[in-house]
Amino acid sequence: MENGKIYDLIVIGAGPGGYTAAIRGAQLGMSVAVIEKRNRPGGVCLNEGCIPSKAFLDSSEYFALARDKFATHGINIEPPKLDLERMMQRKDDIIQKNGDGILYLFKKHKIDLINGKGALAAREGELHRVEVTDTEKSFHLEGKNILLATGSRAVEIPAIPFDGELIVSAREALSFSEPPEHLLVVGAGYIGLELGSIWKRLGSEVTVVEALPKPLASMDSQVVDTLIRALKKQGLRFFFETTVKGFSYNDGKVNVDIEGVSGTSSIKCSKVLVAVGRAPYTEALNLPEAGIETDNSGRIIVDENYETSAKGVHAIGDIIAGPMLAHKASEEAVAAVESLNGRKSKVDYSTIPGICYTWPEVASVGRSEEQLVKEGIPYSVGKFSFIANGRARCLDETEGFVKIIAHTETDKILGVHIVGPKASELIAEAVIAMTLGATASDMAKAFHAHPTLSEAVKEAALDVHGEAIHI
Ligand code: NAI
Repeated sequence: MENGKIYDLIVIGAGPGGYTAAIRGAQLGMSVAVIEKRNRPGGVCLNEGCIPSKAFLDSSEYFALARDKFATHGINIEPPKLDLERMMQRKDDIIQKNGDGILYLFKKHKIDLINGKGALAAREGELHRVEVTDTEKSFHLEGKNILLATGSRAVEIPAIPFDGELIVSAREALSFSEPPEHLLVVGAGYIGLELGSIWKRLGSEVTVVEALPKPLASMDSQVVDTLIRALKKQGLRFFFETTVKGFSYNDGKVNVDIEGVSGTSSIKCSKVLVAVGRAPYTEALNLPEAGIETDNSGRIIVDENYETSAKGVHAIGDIIAGPMLAHKASEEAVAAVESLNGRKSKVDYSTIPGICYTWPEVASVGRSEEQLVKEGIPYSVGKFSFIANGRARCLDETEGFVKIIAHTETDKILGVHIVGPKASELIAEAVIAMTLGATASDMAKAFHAHPTLSEAVKEAALDVHGEAIHI
């Protein structure tokens, strides 16, 4: 960092939104500084979210396969032993390598990464100023444009506040030193179901308490039913329409009082994971002083170019409206920086995929049947079960199905919902199809190699017109 340098773009936050914005800005010829308070870039996603949870999901999946499934394939082994320390080390190595990758990209693009907490400071003429505070000092950076990408933090519930030890958020639940004897998960959302699955596979008893009658509200209802059935079969216990009313510590354990449709009761557990959603993390930014408006849920209000109510200050990702997803943040990052450079870039919000990395996985894009009924849009459904897919049988993973919803008159694909093996990868085809405005017939006509799981997508597309071959 040169003294007195005026940057074209100052980004606050180096998560998937912020670092992508920085790289795209540099590619377009901007001089860029990124301010990050952690000592590694990548944000929650890399350091304590998406990447570690997927590393851990994959490892725990292998462990569960070795224990429960290998014999089906004719592989007889001694019951596998869990080396949790090694599993954690592997996860941490992946975080480290990905972080190094971002640092390499910053270097390649001559992006200045500045360690410290950034806050908006009073402007000097046309120039924006950001106050950076690190452990020893505070100083100012000046720039022509600012992009806020500070992400989100776990929401706490007053009935059971985090203590960092026994009552924890996802961050700590990704690093327990041993499988908790009994893990109570509050909230059956993405985090609750993924982390609940991990610890169940590794031997914990897992109980999930969820306020709603059905979780994953944005997903297709049939898909969610299938997932919950599968998770129950794996041994997870669910209490729906139930909330936590209070708790007490008891001899190194926690007694959690719950209230639900069947009355009140108390659950004794060794750890509690509270995963009831996330809130935008903007407290340190000085938003009111900078004249930046927020909505009722504290999210920054932006226009179609991601500019806030303060001219030249932009915001993307979890701190603005929309689903809190890394890929949504990074697409917004590209669009925001490109529009700063005079390009007409837009994010297609109707094709954001959502994925829950349980087993079976759940993935969806577009609208669900429930939404289409509400909107009064006429639709036809095609469905194909993995039980009739050759590759799924080879894998011995036949649970679940692909469901394609198309407009009755135009045949345009309106939504694709998958529960089953590798749904997270299969959904990409649906996203491309919808982005290109494809019809169910287009999707059905396209070659799908045999034998692959993707043939289930083709068959579901054929089934929209009752023409599936293997039904
Ligand atoms: P979430 O919004 O997915 O789920 C929270 C759940 O908690 C909801 O089902 C809600 O009804 C329930 N709940 C709320 N208050 C409750 C209470 N007092 N008692 C019982 N249940 C209660 O939130 P989550 O799982 O914390 O994830 C946060 C964000 O992170 C999400 O917005 C998600 O998009 C993102 N995320 C995405 C992942 C992915 O794409 N695979 C993985 C992990 C997180």
